[in-house]
Amino acid sequence: MGLLILPLLLSFVFFCLFQTPALAVKKSYIVYMGGHSTVLEPSFADVKAVTNSHYNLLGSLLGSDQKAQDAIFYSYQRYINGFAANLEEGEAAEIATNPNVVSVFLNQGRKLHTTRSWDFMGLERNGAIPADSAWNVARFGENTIIANFDTGVWPESESFNDEGMGPIPSKWRGVCQSENNDGVRCNRKLIGIRYFNKGYVAFAANNNIQLNASTFTARDHGGHGTHTLSTAGGSFVPGANVLGFGNGTAKGGSPKARVAAYKVCWPALVGGGECFDADIMAAIDVAIADGVDVMSLSVGSGPRDFFHDAIALGTFQAIRNGITVVASAGNEGPGPGTVTNLAPWIFTVGASTMDREFASYVSLGNKMHLKGSSLSGTALPSDKLFPLTSAADAKAANASADDALLCQAGSLDPTKVKGKILVCLRGLSARVEKGYQAHLAGAVGMILANNVSDGNGVLADAHLLPASHIGYTEGQHVFAYIRSTKNPVGSISPVMTQLDTKPAPIMASFSSVGPNIIEPAILKPDITAPGVSVIAAYSEAVSPTEIEFDKRRVPFNTLSGTSMSCPHVSGIVGLVKTVHPSWSPAAIKSAIMTTAKTRDNDKQPIRDSSSLKATPIDYGAGHVQPNRAVDPGLVYDLTVDDYLNFLCARGYNQTLLRLFTDKPHVCPKPFGLENFNYPSITVPTLLANPVTVTRTVTNVGSANGAYKVSVKEPRGVMVSVEPTSLDFKSIGEKKSFKATLKLKSSASKIEDYVFGQLVWSDGKHVVRSPVAVSSTGNQVKIR
Ligand SMILES: *[C@@H]1O[C@H](CO)[C@@H](O)[C@H](O)[C@H]1NC(C)=O
Ligand SMILES: *[C@@H]1O[C@H](CO)[C@@H](O)[C@H](O)[C@H]1NC(C)=O
Ligand SMILES: *[C@@H]1O[C@H](CO)[C@@H](O)[C@H](O)[C@H]1NC(C)=O
Ligand SMILES: *[C@@H]1O[C@H](CO)[C@@H](O)[C@H](O)[C@H]1NC(C)=O
Ligand SMILES: *[C@@H]1O[C@H](CO)[C@@H](O)[C@H](O)[C@H]1NC(C)=O
Repeated sequence: MGLLILPLLLSFVFFCLFQTPALAVKKSYIVYMGGHSTVLEPSFADVKAVTNSHYNLLGSLLGSDQKAQDAIFYSYQRYINGFAANLEEGEAAEIATNPNVVSVFLNQGRKLHTTRSWDFMGLERNGAIPADSAWNVARFGENTIIANFDTGVWPESESFNDEGMGPIPSKWRGVCQSENNDGVRCNRKLIGIRYFNKGYVAFAANNNIQLNASTFTARDHGGHGTHTLSTAGGSFVPGANVLGFGNGTAKGGSPKARVAAYKVCWPALVGGGECFDADIMAAIDVAIADGVDVMSLSVGSGPRDFFHDAIALGTFQAIRNGITVVASAGNEGPGPGTVTNLAPWIFTVGASTMDREFASYVSLGNKMHLKGSSLSGTALPSDKLFPLTSAADAKAANASADDALLCQAGSLDPTKVKGKILVCLRGLSARVEKGYQAHLAGAVGMILANNVSDGNGVLADAHLLPASHIGYTEGQHVFAYIRSTKNPVGSISPVMTQLDTKPAPIMASFSSVGPNIIEPAILKPDITAPGVSVIAAYSEAVSPTEIEFDKRRVPFNTLSGTSMSCPHVSGIVGLVKTVHPSWSPAAIKSAIMTTAKTRDNDKQPIRDSSSLKATPIDYGAGHVQPNRAVDPGLVYDLTVDDYLNFLCARGYNQTLLRLFTDKPHVCPKPFGLENFNYPSITVPTLLANPVTVTRTVTNVGSANGAYKVSVKEPRGVMVSVEPTSLDFKSIGEKKSFKATLKLKSSASKIEDYVFGQLVWSDGKHVVRSPVAVSSTGNQVKIR
């Protein structure tokens, strides 16, 4: 995002220097004034008064309240205090100096965390629900309200049928916003629909981008929001499949939860994004008042410090109101330092595979068979070989070989492609878009090969033509074979659904990776969940490839991304919340993190897409295990004051703290981040001096719990824990311990991160925290 914004700012500066300043350009800004003093339900009169105070404040600068009313397009009145307005740069700078204003920042766009593809996760075994399933324990997430901030919803989807659901919980105060005769309806499952577009419209207007106002409805025209919302809380839908594949019963993580769609994401704008900060803030503010229990945000942007991050600021108010916030880690992996949504009050989710594959085999003329992945609706005749060509060898005269190899629009020569299987390299454009280009150029099929940085992770997409996506290693075999012979030939098998595949999970190559470049003492991501080839409900306003030429419509589609793993965790949060309605967001998050697993279904350490051992920098605490998360034994709890202390430890002064709380907060002295009660332990700068971390666990298991510690030390690090056993006498009892970390050889320094774990167990519960140690903070080697 920073890079996209930079050219705009530069041209603005240029403009001011060389033109008359009278023609000042307006931009939309968020004027942030912190939280409100009450977290109780504000009255109508309070809300009016807040808005008037915003008009007065800006009016005093612009000359009249009327001018302020024209400029302000959101007044955040309930839990967030502030407004969004179209202002000139000078006006924005001036309002920032007002003592009531704590921060002014540009209304920037964010991205949805998707890469196209599909998959699905369940809490059942072979179609049956075992007794220990968290679904049974948590009554399928009954009556928990899950809010999704995304592209809206396709309300007619079977995933939102309300069969067998009782009356809407009385605490619900939301609405069903149906305008433009778009036929949007709510029911006892889909209890709320709203849309927020003023930040989006403001950006478009300020950049002279024409918008289609007829699409301003909460109806999902993109598919992403329907997919994520149904993954978190969709009802049971038997016979769900994509073009006939993966047939089964679709369902969300909390199948009996109530769901509400807050549409904040719109078609992407050039130089902007798709989900704008001002709209996200407005939606979060309203959703808190609506009475939601869980917020799911499959949205993000480049890392920003918390006081400049609308998601971090807005969700802090949600946490103050007891709402758990789950967000995606980003799809910028596998390079280090790419993870986003870094605030410790956010539950940040990476993406990994599951034990189902949609296999499509590539056969070469040299009798080699290579396994790939696909969800193409059509297949090549299986008894026939077709001529095979590398897309680089089929380049148009006016195109570069690199563009052709990447199957970019206009780069292929149809006379060299027609009737052949085209081999394209992954990168630059969407995978399904390459299939479209291959189809346009007359190819009978496409082999999509990974470039080296993608490793061997492959994704099943509903391509327009027979196609198979293969890993880097397999791709090298294909290119070598093409080079080895004059007339290369090959074929692509029909798609076969394979279950119980091993190993699984494997971290997805796109999943964003730590360390946390804003605050390296907090491990991010927090956890991983399925995000590769996820099947869930889809919008029928768009084709499965999102390409206009594609006229297919599907009630279910496959998508891949941390966007897809995030709502899996949101659904599981719904289950834990149903079993433990009084738990804080931090306790729920701790329960899910400390019960996660770090081994795959081959009992080996979870691997990354290059078959190397993955680490907590990739998956945080590990892969989510919902059945254990509802009974974690101990939790690492945190209060709102603890989060404020965290900000103190980061050096936030009273001015910055006012962004998060209206009440003066006294920073404890001394307080270091090593004492922040996070469920994972990270020491980013361990040097000659030992570092002692303290943690406090709360007993939530059985009244008489006798826990013993066991530690797996990171390589080169000694860890001693004091005390080594904790005996609890009652539920809710808290006990503290210290862990001292020391380099084994005081002269040495840890260049990269090393990992271990700290486990408390009473024989029944296993409460695991990852331990990550480095000497160099967030400076890590490129792996
Ligand atoms: C606006 O979008 C609607 C719905 O997608 C479409 O039917 C209509 O043709 C569009 N209008 C314009 C002017 O693009
Ligand atoms: C999917 O499964 C259901 C139930 O077993 C069956 O009735 C239906 O025909 C199947 N559909 C496909 C496309 O295989
Ligand atoms: C393949 O990946 C390498 C390494 O990331 C990169 O330098 C190269 O440009 C990529 N190839 C193409 C054709 O994009
Ligand atoms: C090459 O020329 C064709 C035909 O004129 C055009 O459609 C295509 O966009 C051009 N490609 C590039 C990469 O310039
Ligand atoms: C608080 O910190 C901010 C950001 O570092 C700084 O701009 C501001 O001047 C500080 N305020 C005070 C009162 O120290």
